[in-house]
Amino acid sequence: MTICSAPGKIFLCGEHAVVYGEPAIACAIDLRTRVSIQESLDTSITSKLGRGIDRHPYVLKAIERMKMLTEFDGVKVKIDSEIPPESGLGSSAAVTIATLSAINMEFDVGLSDEEIAELGHSIEVEIQGAASPTDTFISTMGGVVLMPSRRRLKNLDYGFVVGDTGKTSSTKELVGRVSLLRERYPDVVQMIFNAIGAIAKRGEHLIEEGDCSAIGELMNINQGLLESLGVGCPELSAQIYAARDAGAFGAKITGAGGGGCMVALVSHDHAEKVAKAIEEAGGRAIKARVTEVGVATEDE
Ligand code: MEV
Repeated sequence: MTICSAPGKIFLCGEHAVVYGEPAIACAIDLRTRVSIQESLDTSITSKLGRGIDRHPYVLKAIERMKMLTEFDGVKVKIDSEIPPESGLGSSAAVTIATLSAINMEFDVGLSDEEIAELGHSIEVEIQGAASPTDTFISTMGGVVLMPSRRRLKNLDYGFVVGDTGKTSSTKELVGRVSLLRERYPDVVQMIFNAIGAIAKRGEHLIEEGDCSAIGELMNINQGLLESLGVGCPELSAQIYAARDAGAFGAKITGAGGGGCMVALVSHDHAEKVAKAIEEAGGRAIKARVTEVGVATEDE
């Protein structure tokens, strides 16, 4: 039996625009999904969602792809995740990457981490229609990364408070909605993407300098631009304003939006206060830190 785990992620800036090639900065966070794989005559998948292979399209696709690279009849899969599903924290990428990696090790397939990240991305594209390589790359490699160049940036000394609305959202649907807006107003939407890309370019230098108040200010501007793309919702806005009022450097949607999660950048002194404000605004607050650890094997 092999157990692998992979982290979730937050976007400091750049979601949606990154699908069209603009720069974005994402960070792996210390919430993980663990997948255990054991060779078996047939395939079964067990998780908090229950037992049943149809509920886990990413895992099924990962097994199917690995079967093209090595021979096995089936696998017994057990999933245990700290990442809320369909919430913009990269739960699909984490389960895909942990599954690919555990099968890779269990059957000595010999794929490198780069190849696992690439395979994971192609699975997301196949299932979602369109996806940037961000979620799968960060989940594989960990750390703070500038996409699409994949440049590793300095670790952030500050923490995050994630606010989960509990309202699930479909990345595929949200990406589709932005794509329709772009078709209707290509000139306008392209300028919004350019502005989001400019935030990531500035963010790259601000991270090196450790200037968290400027990063926070740019996160707030990024939030305004995400709103203009139509991916906000009242629950997210309530938590974003509450976090800012409680002293966060900045706060915005993370991931596809339309529900899911917001993220606030906070100093250690403010983390508790911001978490409380998010809870009072109706969210479930989760304190998180950047992790350098991407996909990794775990003891049984
Ligand atoms: C989803 O976590 C982030 C989006 O930018 C989609 C993607 O990058 O694939 C909305």
